[in-house]
Amino acid sequence: MSSLTNKQILLGVTGGIAAYKSAELVRRLQDLGAEVRVIMTAAAQQFITPLTMQALSGNPVHTQLLDPEAEAGMGHIELARWADLLLVAPASADFIARLVNGAGDDLLTTVCLATAAPICLAPAMNQAMWKSPATQANLAQLTGRNIVCFGPAEGSQACGDVGPGRMLEASELAHLTAGRFATGLLAGKSVVITAGPTREAIDPVRYISNHSSGKMGYALAAAARDAGAKVTIISGPCNLATPEHCTRIDVESAREMHQASLDALAGCDVFIASAAVADYRPATVAEQKIKKTGRDSMTIELVKNPDIVAAVAASEPRPFTVGFAAETSDVVHYARDKLVRKKLDAVIANDVSRTDIGFNSDQNAVTIITADGETTLPQASKSQLARELIAYLAKLI
Ligand code: C5P
Repeated sequence: MSSLTNKQILLGVTGGIAAYKSAELVRRLQDLGAEVRVIMTAAAQQFITPLTMQALSGNPVHTQLLDPEAEAGMGHIELARWADLLLVAPASADFIARLVNGAGDDLLTTVCLATAAPICLAPAMNQAMWKSPATQANLAQLTGRNIVCFGPAEGSQACGDVGPGRMLEASELAHLTAGRFATGLLAGKSVVITAGPTREAIDPVRYISNHSSGKMGYALAAAARDAGAKVTIISGPCNLATPEHCTRIDVESAREMHQASLDALAGCDVFIASAAVADYRPATVAEQKIKKTGRDSMTIELVKNPDIVAAVAASEPRPFTVGFAAETSDVVHYARDKLVRKKLDAVIANDVSRTDIGFNSDQNAVTIITADGETTLPQASKSQLARELIAYLAKLI
């Protein structure tokens, strides 16, 4: 079953009477779990107000390309990066023509040029305009660029004509959108993903941990599920909803994560270690809360935790094993060292010294390192990047 859980859908609305259905479409996309932001062209605002779309989406509506306020917050490049998928509904004949020509004279066309996310169109126009050789030639060009058309449907039109050109209904568009995320690349595979931080207890109330949010691991889980895999997340403590249809095993410490990972290996085809596992834990855990009275300083002895991903890579039979390398300098160099030392099939390297990507950010950029070479995936939302990573790993497997 396709879902849009954790997916960020940018809805472009262009000028056509079917724009009244776009309001409903926001709701239907949300029903499937999507967060929705809306861009409206000037013509769209003649048919339906930005206020309606703002109230329904729960986000400000974007209408201007050159808007100093928007540029400080969500300007065209941020919107282009934010989107996991850009759906233009309705897509008018004029918008389609401008898209074909690579126009960038308003916000929506500019975002279309700037986004790496898939673009889907729900055309809506008079049947004669739809059938016109110009529109058909334009659509053929867009198909060649992997831009997908949903519909249009046939039937009676607002202008009184009957024929092709009606925009599909909102619920059908929402399901077609969700279907774009289902790739089948890992159909029948079992994938185990560690995610989030671990907590290493000092005493009953204190622990050592790190800033990992778990977002990248959870995005990978959703992407692997969309690719048809059976997914288990072994999760350290984090405040994220479990992606639908994924199994989640909650753990706290590295040793619990280690045990849960080994227990999950039977039948596991792919193991992805995205968790930020604490390298060390206190040698002893105080039974009672440690008191500060009479202490000006304190020393905690730490001992090494088991290396989970290395243990998985050394198991027999071993799954295709992927590690992460979160580094602050010499990222690729250290990642390659991990690939060899831990005997991994691939390492996903990211630079956590940058505040715009990495730990708590919704964005990331990574380099995938294998014995055969390196591939860099540029900055994108973690869910978009997760899909690209899963597609890449599926090819390696
Ligand atoms: O050794 P380092 O922590 O830099 O390696 C990072 C990779 O190893 C990540 O994939 C992380 O999930 C994994 N790891 C692990 N167990 C540890 C430490 C790291 O699985 N104890």
